[in-house]
Amino acid sequence: MSSPSPGFQVSSPEHGIGRRKSQFTHRQLSLLASFSPSSPLRVIAHVDLDAFYAQCEMVRLGIDEEQPLAVQQWQGLIAINYSARKFGIGRHCTVTEAKKLCPNLVAQHVATWKEGEETWAYHDDAASHIATHKVSLDPYRLQSRQILALIKQCLPANKQKVEKASIDEVFIDLSAQVHSILLQRFPELTGPPPYDDPTEKLPLPPITALDWKADVLVDLDDAEAEVDDPDWDDVAILIGSEIIRDIRAEIRKRLHYTCSAGVAGNKMLSKLGSGHRKPNQQTVIRNRAIQRFLSDMKFTKIRNLGGKLGDQVKSTFNTESIKDMLEVPVDQLKLKLGDDTGLWFYDTIRGIDLSEVTSRTQIKSMLSAKSFQPSINKMEQASKWLRIFAADIFSRLIEEGVLENRRRPKTIHLHHRSAGQTRSKSSGIPQGKALEEAILFDLAKNMMSQIASEGRVWPCTNLSLSVGGFEDGITGNMGIGSFLLKGDEARISKVTSCDSPLDLSSHEPQEKKRRLESPGIQRFFPKKDLSAGEDQTDSTELDYTHGDVERRVSGSRSRQLSITDYMCSRCNAVFESAEALQSHNDWHLAKDLHDEERGRSTFASSKRIVPRSEKNATQAPRKKHSGGGAGGKRLEQGQSKLKFG
Ligand code: CTP
Ligand code: CA
Ligand code: CA
Repeated sequence: MSSPSPGFQVSSPEHGIGRRKSQFTHRQLSLLASFSPSSPLRVIAHVDLDAFYAQCEMVRLGIDEEQPLAVQQWQGLIAINYSARKFGIGRHCTVTEAKKLCPNLVAQHVATWKEGEETWAYHDDAASHIATHKVSLDPYRLQSRQILALIKQCLPANKQKVEKASIDEVFIDLSAQVHSILLQRFPELTGPPPYDDPTEKLPLPPITALDWKADVLVDLDDAEAEVDDPDWDDVAILIGSEIIRDIRAEIRKRLHYTCSAGVAGNKMLSKLGSGHRKPNQQTVIRNRAIQRFLSDMKFTKIRNLGGKLGDQVKSTFNTESIKDMLEVPVDQLKLKLGDDTGLWFYDTIRGIDLSEVTSRTQIKSMLSAKSFQPSINKMEQASKWLRIFAADIFSRLIEEGVLENRRRPKTIHLHHRSAGQTRSKSSGIPQGKALEEAILFDLAKNMMSQIASEGRVWPCTNLSLSVGGFEDGITGNMGIGSFLLKGDEARISKVTSCDSPLDLSSHEPQEKKRRLESPGIQRFFPKKDLSAGEDQTDSTELDYTHGDVERRVSGSRSRQLSITDYMCSRCNAVFESAEALQSHNDWHLAKDLHDEERGRSTFASSKRIVPRSEKNATQAPRKKHSGGGAGGKRLEQGQSKLKFG
């Protein structure tokens, strides 16, 4: 990508003369180069694809943008393009209801794996075959990957930090790139600070109107603020928004997708920004506009406050308004919510969020699952589905580089649900020889037989197979280990029962989860919250999880069972957002690392401020099953019509 076009035309040599200094110091500027969350100049963007699955289908089928289109799953809708939204169609609609609202609607069913087939395909009759098909979101994963790869290509190789937050969104820390562009454009910033003192203030930027192009600028805190001269934080965010505008244009040009973005000084604000105006727009939240932007908002719209925690604050203080909550003294918040949560909330509603953008783009686990309607009653049936799950997972593993041994999973897990009870088995995947689909299938069958030998397994309403514990490319939040209970042994090296049969009806935290939860986490979340899930926004990564859910239909009434849920493939915990799941998976990862590293003093001494959002996500989530599918990616017959590169 070409370097971003300057948003201002001036490089005035007269800057600073007779004027007061910038409020920022030389040190704060240099911290920008190292992505330091403590630099008040940092620039974070959040990019979210508009009506993502719907756009995938439009691009694949070459459908005009004006054409109303929805993505169908059985009789329900899981994505609706903006043309269709004008008719009042939403995710709550069934296909029949949507077609009444807009007879011209194109309802494209998601790809499915058909029982007995070796790969997924787009089947015209999928909607009426919920019993024999399972959903594949592979086409969307593939697009997601291409978009992510393009975004990375657009960023300088040595100055990029990109965090995939869900199948259709990323956080980008633009700080280092913005730092180098600042130095290029404003040579006055390159010299040493006066008296070699890094705490000296910078000169002010040249006085000039900043050109925000088509960006949505949120209103400023007060009328006075606009007349204040721009400072370096405004300039930094402007440069960030130029970079993002170019990236969005590139995504549009090369892959034909529109997306929306938020550019701000931290993750929380950038995420609020990307959702502020959709579709195909970017919103800039300058530091001087934060207060006003937030005070008009409900705190339940903020990341991590959409669910239980938000509800708790709401009922405790009898309001949802940030403006009201700004009046509450920090001590009061600590008293009612606990010290950590209270302080976190206090900061958050003031727009303070020091959490880092972490470059995690590696898949950490993969899940293939199916909820049965009607339930299945024979080992042969279970076996057929296990074969599909193994094929599904293996084809995704190929893309992860399992054949070249770049990455491979260490563990495999089977969850079986019958009569409201889930039983789980885990097994080590033999290392030291090439992994094959048949190995996964055999392990799955073996675990299934063990479950069957232990009691009544029919009728079975849900089966899920997952792999985890990937060996390579692990990056993680080591510091989170400080939350782990000492002496915990969670590594699974041989076939063994999960410590905790998941009784989904009881909503009790899994025994295993309970053991892993630290006092720190429990302090952060009141005990009663530990059993329940958290509404939030988006994900972890990755693909693996999101979307491996199915909407099921009972009679003509659409019953949404799990469409909003994100299930952890390792412990079956369910989250309502991909982000929450990502954080939760980070926790698993940290736990794995902790187990591996136990005894090494480096781990014990490694320190990192754990963003509270991570602690947040470690609470035991609501347990609930989601069925659903993921698909393979080998280009086979049914897929040859895909236009996706
Ligand atoms: N998705 C889903 N079920 C949900 C939420 C999301 O299946 N409860 C899928 C959607 O199909 C969607 C993708 O995940 O296309 C991304 O979700 P999201 O960003 O929340 O919505 P979009 O459909 O992309 O719409 P928007 O333009 O509002 O971002
Ligand atoms: Ca989206
Ligand atoms: Ca999203």
